[in-house]
Amino acid sequence: MDAIDPAAPPRLRTPVPGSRARAYVERLAASECPALTTRRARREEQTGAPHDPPVWTRAAGCHVWDVDDNRFVDLSAGFGAAAVGHAHPKVVAAIQAQAARLMHALGDLQPSDVKVDLLERLAGLVPLPNARVILGLQGSDAVEAALKTAVLCTGKPGVLAFTGGYHGLAHGPLALCGYRAAFRTPFSNQLNPHVCFAPYPGLESGRAETLAGALASIASAWDAAGSPIGAVVVEPVLGRGGVVLPPPGFLRELGALCRARGALLIADEIMTGLGRTGHLLLSIAMGAEPDIVCLGKALGGGQPVSACVGRGDVMAAWGDPGGEALHTGTFLGNPVGCAAALAALRVLTDEDLATRALRVGERWQGELQTLTARHTSIEAVRGIGLLQGIVLSSPGQALSVVQGLLRRGYITVPAGADTRVLSLTPPLTIPEPLLEGFLPALDDTLSEHAT
Ligand SMILES: Cc1ncc(COP(=O)(O)O)c(C=O)c1O
Repeated sequence: MDAIDPAAPPRLRTPVPGSRARAYVERLAASECPALTTRRARREEQTGAPHDPPVWTRAAGCHVWDVDDNRFVDLSAGFGAAAVGHAHPKVVAAIQAQAARLMHALGDLQPSDVKVDLLERLAGLVPLPNARVILGLQGSDAVEAALKTAVLCTGKPGVLAFTGGYHGLAHGPLALCGYRAAFRTPFSNQLNPHVCFAPYPGLESGRAETLAGALASIASAWDAAGSPIGAVVVEPVLGRGGVVLPPPGFLRELGALCRARGALLIADEIMTGLGRTGHLLLSIAMGAEPDIVCLGKALGGGQPVSACVGRGDVMAAWGDPGGEALHTGTFLGNPVGCAAALAALRVLTDEDLATRALRVGERWQGELQTLTARHTSIEAVRGIGLLQGIVLSSPGQALSVVQGLLRRGYITVPAGADTRVLSLTPPLTIPEPLLEGFLPALDDTLSEHAT
């Protein structure tokens, strides 16, 4: 395959989606769970424009090619997973070597050498005393492991979560989904009933906007909870919920509250961690001392790998005297995923991509902010590092803007419960000319979609 200039702009050969992509989407509609086809149809109704997607066939660095040979710039980094860029050569080499040597082992029963290497690496990376790790595949596996750890450790079934929070859609994390009640409702009879919600500070106007008000709201929710709370699960910055930054000191005070009330603080760093927000772990940079940290997305360098990393004394709760491995799975510690994660972590730390994300993200935010003077439809540009959000003035508006940008060759995703936020999470390696090149495309799109 031809090498490509990492800073090459988008290049579209057909309208998006092209005829080949449309043919694939028709096949998709006939074979995929109808939920996704229905969503496309609803979005089409909402925005008056087709929502058929391009169909990916290849990706490298910040570029994605579709089946019609259109080349896009991916400002979503594949939902944040391609933090080191798609198909980073060192990650690919590690996967190829591992796949040729050992693709699968006996999970918890007979581990692979590379699984042991990854566990050690993670325990060293997350600065918790005597850290221990449970690996998973998706982000929601890590949250599920953290929730189980909390109940084993504290004996308390209750969980305090936040409005706007998103932790994955498996049954454990789904019960904590404050992002949209609609995700929980059809399954509510099957979900943990011991969950209460507090407002995420800054998500909506009101008492929880200030630090003192947010803490008071949490205390009220906690006091009103019907069950003893053993865990508080929080995103250091709301990601899917709309890129919302809490006031300074919030994470630190939340940790103190947890300690005072005998609950574990679980920091969900699946989106914010491993460099995206300018720090390897944002919760710790914000002064919190979490008991458990959940990692995913960027961890696998594009392979499905997640991790629940906890303090040694907390994780000791798993030491069942009956000797049962209460939490395992066929693919636990999959060797190919472990090799990919080790390579991705090496790239992240060797190239200090966290520091780069902070520097490049700050500059880009300033450039994005210049567009607010030209577009009344931009309410705010907010974020940290390369987790940025553009808050638009009307509900649903991000859907049209995402489509407009796609037609100009940029892949972005909508965020926020009322889809008013354009989420921008490019690979941390993105060449700056690509970030600059995005500005006129956004400018044009916003002019087209002015409301
Ligand atoms: C903060 C956070 N936690 C958990 C998850 C769930 O991860 P996954 O979709 O890999 O299960 C996500 C996914 O977007 C996330 O952003």
